[in-house]
Amino acid sequence: MSDPYLWLKWIHVLAIISWMAAMLYLPRLFVYHVEAEPGSKQSETFKVMERRLLKAIGTPAMIVAFASGIALGWMAGYWSSGWLHGKTLLVVMLAACHGYLARCVKTFAADRNTRTGVHFRVVNEIPTVLMMGAVFFVIFKPFS
Ligand code: HEM
Repeated sequence: MSDPYLWLKWIHVLAIISWMAAMLYLPRLFVYHVEAEPGSKQSETFKVMERRLLKAIGTPAMIVAFASGIALGWMAGYWSSGWLHGKTLLVVMLAACHGYLARCVKTFAADRNTRTGVHFRVVNEIPTVLMMGAVFFVIFKPFS
């Protein structure tokens, strides 16, 4: 119980669970938001849900996931390992997805969305695949 590395990994796993929850749920909200009339009560409710999911959960969890992951890699001396390079590449792509979803939250908030529900259904799959790849790298540690 006294190993600081395990405590940091516990925080890391909690942060990535929270970040992925936001990354997988936000596009889903957009799929339904597209069908709501701009200015309607339903559209205004979606705006509040999207903003809170991003700002209160998604963004803080991403920051903690990065900080704790970088520290874990440093503590265990993993930064020269190919698996962590591969994982970090996928995680940087996840962060780019986060940036795109954050931009969509702003576009919906301004009632300026022009994307379709099909677009957001496809977008929904991208963080799913990247998450599967990131977890694969850290569990199997190929190229070690
Ligand atoms: C820049 C961001 C990240 C870095 C540098 C990073 C680095 C690390 C390191 C060094 C470990 C410890 C590995 C071990 O002790 O065996 C770890 C554990 C883990 N990471 Fe990350 N990580 C990052 C983001 C993520 C993300 C976004 C996910 C999931 C989508 C993730 C999933 C996991 C899991 C599940 C573990 C626990 C693995 C185990 O206990 O075997 N990480 N991470």
